[in-house]
Amino acid sequence: MSCLVLGIESSCDETGVALVRTRPAGVPELLAHALHTQVAMHADYGGVVPELASRDHIRRVIPLANSVLAQAGKGLSAIDMVAFTRGPGLAGALLVGAGVACALAAALGKPVLGVHHLEGHLLSPFLSADPPEFPFIALLVSGGHTQLMRVDGVGRYALLGETIDDAAGEAFDKSAKLLGLGYPGGPALARLAEFGDDSAYKLPRPLLHSGNLDFSFAGLKTAVLTQARKFEGSPCEQQRADLAASTQAAIVEVLVKKSLAALRATGLKRMVVAGGVGANQRLRAALNAACAPLGVRVHYPELSLCTDNGAMIAMAAAMRVQAGVETPQRQYAFDVKPRWPLDQLASAAQGT
Ligand code: KG4
Ligand code: ZN
Repeated sequence: MSCLVLGIESSCDETGVALVRTRPAGVPELLAHALHTQVAMHADYGGVVPELASRDHIRRVIPLANSVLAQAGKGLSAIDMVAFTRGPGLAGALLVGAGVACALAAALGKPVLGVHHLEGHLLSPFLSADPPEFPFIALLVSGGHTQLMRVDGVGRYALLGETIDDAAGEAFDKSAKLLGLGYPGGPALARLAEFGDDSAYKLPRPLLHSGNLDFSFAGLKTAVLTQARKFEGSPCEQQRADLAASTQAAIVEVLVKKSLAALRATGLKRMVVAGGVGANQRLRAALNAACAPLGVRVHYPELSLCTDNGAMIAMAAAMRVQAGVETPQRQYAFDVKPRWPLDQLASAAQGT
């Protein structure tokens, strides 16, 4: 029997709503999704303003839900389960999605499920035309997280290594700010880098030879700052493009080499890249080039589903229920978990 899951994402600066249908055999399918990004609203402030984010989620979430139902040609009564992002993320923003999801589920008398945002990213490649199979190594590269995980199945995640300071997305964003690019910096830096020489500036590759699978990107931002200060007056366009390309190359090289080390350490032959930085074309090209000779397949989410969206939340909920890892509840009192390590997911699901 199939089950219709409405997913709501509101952890940061994107409101996403989606409808996913489980299938008796095979991975669930995406019926419709809709997204509103707050990028333009936060751009003037150079970053996300939490209170503005929460207020905007309130404005957007119901119209987006209506739009998704209309796209799929479904009424509210067709929904079998409502899923929302329970954490990690901005507390106020999370509360909007949680409140709407629980109120809607209560009104419909349907079960509700709080989902871990990073599990959503992790499972998002299952929405692609080329879904992976378990087990695989996951490189999770979002704005706040950089982690290598061994994934043996839904809910079976072992942390292999993670950043000890800044995330790769933060390194992109902070370097972009130093180069005078807007927020969010990652895509802007990547665009500028296309015109630059990636060997123009020698930038550090922190922890590249550390012998473990941890990352560190804080030093890179300092090196970019030091280099930017060396430019006399304001840098010319070519210097900015060269520094952007050199920064991107440093981040990509570390991510690729550590991913290869994780594959070697586990002997696995499959990889998944998820999270916003996974949209980076240089990262995709470098990882594909490094993995092909080793016979390793790399799976990515569709480009439009790399950054935050409701589809991955509906998908993660559907897969958790289908795998028997979790049972959605008809209990509508909710809480959110602004800080929530992914490897604590199992115990949280059991309510501890
Ligand atoms: O997963 P995500 O949408 O949000 C979080 O859960 O954090 O990731 C956002 C991050 C930001 O740091 C953004 O700059 C980065 O992903 N990003 C990129 C690209 N697109 C998004 N970084 C590099 N290249 C891109 N094309
Ligand atoms: Zn995210």
